[in-house]
Amino acid sequence: MICLEQPDRSGNGYRVRDAVPEDAPRIVEILTHVGLEGIYIANEGFYMSAEQQAQVLTRRNPDIHLILVAEQASQIVGTLEMVRGVFQKNRHTANFGMALTSDVRGRGMGEGLLLAAHKWARDRGIQKICLSVFASNRAAIRLYTRLGYEEEGRRKHQFLLEGSLVDEVLMAVYLTPTT
Ligand SMILES: CC(C)(COP(=O)(O)OP(=O)(O)OC[C@H]1O[C@@H](n2cnc3c(N)ncnc32)[C@H](O)[C@@H]1OP(=O)(O)O)[C@@H](O)C(=O)NCCC(=O)NCCS
Repeated sequence: MICLEQPDRSGNGYRVRDAVPEDAPRIVEILTHVGLEGIYIANEGFYMSAEQQAQVLTRRNPDIHLILVAEQASQIVGTLEMVRGVFQKNRHTANFGMALTSDVRGRGMGEGLLLAAHKWARDRGIQKICLSVFASNRAAIRLYTRLGYEEEGRRKHQFLLEGSLVDEVLMAVYLTPTT
């Protein structure tokens, strides 16, 4: 069970907690809007329905599949999903994606969400966290690098964003007691 409360960089409090099925409509709304921005995540305005998201939240195995939300002033403003490898061969790893609404970015809430996910992973003995990010996403890469992630691979010209071909960057961090 993840739950933490702390101030953002502007001094306003926010909370990171496990998502519950009732959060599904807002999670879908956020991921749909961020998808429609066109330059941050792969979806293009259809993520999944609120009903499907609620089913995922209800049926997921909480030791394999983490879904967090960040809440500020009683409104969900961001979400993170992390999935652990399910085989003996890769259960020491996990992959994640995350997104915040545009009005709250750059205030440190992304770091709060990701550090909460690191704790969930560390508590389960997960050693390596992986992600994929568009090379043009400077803010995300800055956050990941600050938290110790390093580039470990790159697929050239993997995405077409606003008319330009952009590399997909694969990054990873090995968890330590402090990351
Ligand atoms: C990526 C994201 C989750 C990061 O969360 P966040 O709360 O904005 O992150 P933080 O405030 O903790 O850190 C962002 C860093 O990028 C910097 N930054 C912000 N905009 C930037 C830009 N356009 N170019 C470069 N750096 C930028 C911030 O100053 C901060 O760096 P600093 O701590 O050294 O000052 C959030 O910005 C987001 O939801 N973006 C849209 C969706 C997305 O990109 N998801 C990730 C896909 S891989």
